Amino acid sequence: MENGDLLCEAAQNGDVEKLKTLIESGADVTYFDKDGLTPLMHAAKHGHAEVVQSLLDAGAPWNALSPSNLSAGDFAMDAGHQSAFDVLLYAGIQAELVLGTIARKENANGGSNVEYLEDRISFSEDKLMDAENKAVMMAWEKPLMEAHAKAVCSMGGDVLNVGFGMGLVDTAIQQYEPTSHTIVEAHPEVYKRMLESGWGEKKNVKIIFGRWQDVLDQFESYDGIFFDTYGEYYEDLREFHQHLPKLLKPGGIYSFFNGLCGGNPFFHIVYCQLVSLELESLGYSTQLIPLPVKDCLGEKTWEGVKHRYWQLDSYYLPVCQALEDSE
Ligand SMILES: C[S@@+](CC[C@H](N)C(=O)[O-])C[C@H]1O[C@@H](n2cnc3c(N)ncnc32)[C@H](O)[C@@H]1O
Repeated sequence: MENGDLLCEAAQNGDVEKLKTLIESGADVTYFDKDGLTPLMHAAKHGHAEVVQSLLDAGAPWNALSPSNLSAGDFAMDAGHQSAFDVLLYAGIQAELVLGTIARKENANGGSNVEYLEDRISFSEDKLMDAENKAVMMAWEKPLMEAHAKAVCSMGGDVLNVGFGMGLVDTAIQQYEPTSHTIVEAHPEVYKRMLESGWGEKKNVKIIFGRWQDVLDQFESYDGIFFDTYGEYYEDLREFHQHLPKLLKPGGIYSFFNGLCGGNPFFHIVYCQLVSLELESLGYSTQLIPLPVKDCLGEKTWEGVKHRYWQLDSYYLPVCQALEDSE
């Protein structure tokens, strides 16, 4: 038997001593067995938290994926092994915090989605697609957008939305008749369509054309803010959050489209925790409200769409507010 297979066997049996001996003799903790599983996945599947920790300490990647796109955390979660799950969750958050720091150092260029903003897009009744047939926005999200609008309009007053897309959230925001409704949009064709469909003539609406990063000086402060751009990275969302203390009035509500790692249940949990922690460090609490989405996603939803950006049964709608003692 190969050393890697012996490692998988020890992981499966929860044999910490044997596992450590194998690691010390140079066994590869990143090994994938014939079924495409790593020692970490085997340990997680069987709930051996101590083995999980030893493998992570020896450098096993927390985010390796099996052929069916499951990570060790997914295996622990599906089998209900809480301690193994907790160890993996902590490892995932720590790793992403570090990776975020590296990305921030490397992120010297001017924008993540410059190409998308320069490319053609196509509109149909139920979706807005980019030049590569990836969906920018889809109609199945309408109930989610309505829930976001309800959250960010709950204080009344002045509302900001970043990213118009199909105008679903903005249509819902209008129902609440905010005092002012500012919309920021960076794609020239989306902007043109907004004007053609009369958004420029609405009494309480102010449209700002441009990347939010470039038009920050035109922002005021708001009672409700929603953020949902396209083609940007977690780092961009994080950067937007740095501006919240200036943009959100005391008592105001902030929400964002929570599509973070929407293709994998465990990664999604890691990122939900990560974003909540980062918002907390800025002085905001985050409540994640679960909304079932399985019924919104019929078989035909993804026909012709290149990338299924959502594969989970629930959507966790973030509602963020300043923590009391930080105001
Ligand atoms: C997912 S869609 C928004 C969908 C919208 N919430 C709705 O309800 O239809 C994202 C939008 O953000 C725009 N966008 C992308 N990057 C942007 C940026 N940096 N600043 C402003 N808008 C941006 C895109 O052009 C697109 O219209």
